Amino acid sequence: MNFGLWLAAGAMLAGVATSTALTAVADEAPATAVSVPAVAPVDADDAPRLLTNDLTREAFTQAVEGIDDAARAQFLRGRSLFRQNWVVAPAQDRVFAGLGPVYNRLSCIACHPKNGRGEAPAAGERMQSMLVRLSVPGRDAHGGPKPHPAYGDQFNEEGIPGVAGEGRIVVGWKTVAHRNADGGVQDLALPTIAFADLAYGPLKGVLTSPRVGPQVYGLGLIDAIPEAEIEAQAAAAKPDGVRGRANRVWDAARQRLVVGRFGLKANAPTLRQQIAGAFVGDLGITSELFPQENCSAAQTACQRAPSGGHPELSHEQLDDITAYLSRIAAPARRAVQAPQIVQGEALFAAVGCAVCHRPRWQTAEAADPLLAHRSFAPYTDLLVHDMGPGLADGRPDYLAQGREWRTPPLWGIGLVERVNGHTRYLHDGRARNLDEAVRWHDGEGRAARLRFETLAPADRAALLAFLASL
Ligand code: HEC
Ligand code: HEC
Repeated sequence: MNFGLWLAAGAMLAGVATSTALTAVADEAPATAVSVPAVAPVDADDAPRLLTNDLTREAFTQAVEGIDDAARAQFLRGRSLFRQNWVVAPAQDRVFAGLGPVYNRLSCIACHPKNGRGEAPAAGERMQSMLVRLSVPGRDAHGGPKPHPAYGDQFNEEGIPGVAGEGRIVVGWKTVAHRNADGGVQDLALPTIAFADLAYGPLKGVLTSPRVGPQVYGLGLIDAIPEAEIEAQAAAAKPDGVRGRANRVWDAARQRLVVGRFGLKANAPTLRQQIAGAFVGDLGITSELFPQENCSAAQTACQRAPSGGHPELSHEQLDDITAYLSRIAAPARRAVQAPQIVQGEALFAAVGCAVCHRPRWQTAEAADPLLAHRSFAPYTDLLVHDMGPGLADGRPDYLAQGREWRTPPLWGIGLVERVNGHTRYLHDGRARNLDEAVRWHDGEGRAARLRFETLAPADRAALLAFLASL
């Protein structure tokens, strides 16, 4: 790619107001402009019943429209399960018993505040909405991460009475100098983690992956994208040396490897399994998909602790919370027609962001008729990409390697500040604003980032305004 020539095209672009004009520019300069992925034009208004116009702090907690009374009741039951503080068994209230024996938090919402985004703690503060995945080199029986023999696949800081929590995670922050494509240098922030008060022996040679809880709306639509469509996206030719591949992960219900789509490395196959995995991994609640308590062989008190039922989360409860999370409306875009936003959207495509942050998808058949055959715009290709050494966690997760991450959906990202009161982004919450999130892009994202950094300031502001309108 001839970057200088591209800039000429970019300069022409700065003045364009519509994506039709953009296509014309691209046609005139095929060797330089990035081709926009072949998807229908983005018009968030064509499926209003799946999106919400709520702009309050409750923007991420609304149901899609069109659900009947029974579905509404189920939505509310699932919502309680997501917000509920679970308790230690045996308990009077058996419905919500079974916490631990080791766990991270009492509730789901603790890491997904207001169904939105968590953040990494300030230096020396306790973990709030972040967790640390663990493994040792090698693979488990299904090709997934190999759990640490004493600490398992996730560091559980807490334990119920009589069972030691695994220890403490100590977060620190350091500053790294980032050299921009235009020659300027800018400070970026990077969290570091260390372990303290280890209860089950040393944690040597372990691979770690700190991750912050992401937003949890619109997930039923992502669940309903046909696997073949994600495979087709992986196979499609892409500019800028972008590859991208579909992760393949173990589906515990179907007992086979399928395309992964949830989790920050696309490490979970279905919404239902992602939820069941969170229950056992984060809260220590067993379910039909994961009937084993999360105690390692070294954790004998953990193995002897009383259970809250077999399994602790009933089939109906798993149904209810899956229905809840699959029917939370994603936010509708704002100010779609404003000239700056229109320009930012054109630039988003022209600098190559949309190659990975693919705007539009279509569902096919879905168990939930409301979500079947719908078009929606999550701005992700659901593939994992090599994002360079700066973002790497060095911990493989099925096919996703240590430098690879799933392109995160960008829909609703502009409302995170309003809902969660912060503007922290990327897998470990290191970016302090949207601009910094882009500056960290490297590897397959490098070409797009370099163009972003050499945009005229007004153009970069337009692109960021577009992100904030999502
Ligand atoms: C300790 C913090 C924490 C707790 C508690 C927690 N989560 Fe999460 N959640 C995360 C993180 C981190 C991820 C990303 C996981 C990954 O990449 O493997 C995530 C991912 C998810 C996703 C997938 C989102 C996506 O876009 O792919 C869903 C759904 C989810 N969690 C639901 C739940 C439910 C249900 C519970 C309660 C049973 C729960 N979470 C409890 C931190 C948490
Ligand atoms: C090669 C694929 C690729 C390209 C091209 C790309 N991104 Fe990303 N983007 C990603 C991945 C993967 C992440 C997650 C990285 C992480 O969390 O470590 C990400 C994260 C982000 C985030 C943070 C999202 C969140 O939920 O924290 C923003 C904002 C973003 N990208 C915007 C852009 C913009 C703007 C461009 C164009 C300048 C762009 N991206 C180009 C793959 C890409």
